[in-house]
Amino acid sequence: MLKVSNLTKKTPTGEILKNISFEAKDGEITAVIGTSGSGKTTLLRCLAQLDKNVSGKMLLEKQELFSLSHGEIGLVFQSFNLFPHLNILQNLTLAPILQGLNKLDAEKKAHELLEQFSLKTKTHRYPGQLSGGQKQRIAIARALIMNPPILLFDEPTSALDPEMVNEVGDIIKSLKNPKRVIILVTHEIRLAEKIANRILFLDHGKLLDNIEAKQFFAKDKSKLSTKAQKFLSNLS
Ligand SMILES: Nc1ncnc2c1ncn2[C@@H]1O[C@H](COP(=O)(O)OP(=O)(O)OP(=O)(O)O)[C@@H](O)[C@H]1O
Ligand SMILES: [Mg+2]
Repeated sequence: MLKVSNLTKKTPTGEILKNISFEAKDGEITAVIGTSGSGKTTLLRCLAQLDKNVSGKMLLEKQELFSLSHGEIGLVFQSFNLFPHLNILQNLTLAPILQGLNKLDAEKKAHELLEQFSLKTKTHRYPGQLSGGQKQRIAIARALIMNPPILLFDEPTSALDPEMVNEVGDIIKSLKNPKRVIILVTHEIRLAEKIANRILFLDHGKLLDNIEAKQFFAKDKSKLSTKAQKFLSNLS
């Protein structure tokens, strides 16, 4: 279980996250939704320990997130962030090798993941030779290489063609694991409805709704904040 308490992120111009508290369960997908600028990416960056000036507590079981080692928090961005000058195998193994994993073990793990994602034939190709969906699958494989107990996705489908959205969604769903917390930031509301267990709705840095996905998407919207109701009605 990931437990976030009173998370606040300040910048010189104000607070971007205001006293956010929630729990995300292992074995579940927790989706974070909200309008542009509501603080979704910032929340993921705080969890991934990429941001400074953050107060509050972030615990995985009883362990502070900042004390986790590199690779224990997997992060996948919308823009893939693969290294263009490295082939796929090198893209997958670079970070773990830098972190001290031996090259053969890193490559073994990379080959297993390429097999799992049906990308074995791309092992020695370069990112520029892959489609968007294939690149995103590589980026996901890279995040998985150290078998992280926390996996964070920031708009993983937003750079993809519509037909790839379901495929990457299915992959994310297949990564659910009783020993893993998955947080998915997405504006693809149908994707959240299809694969998320819980929904966090952010608005101007505040967490307004923290609710089971079934309830969030139920016909009866009376349990949702007014802002979330408005957000959903603007989409339809
Ligand atoms: N380092 C920073 N310094 C100051 N303001 C920032 C910083 N990073 C983000 N912001 C602001 O904080 C707010 C939240 O940004 P964030 O990127 O988290 O939003 P988001 O919900 O991910 O939006 P989008 O859906 O467009 O990706 C925005 O108003 C943004 O301009
Ligand atoms: Mg964002």
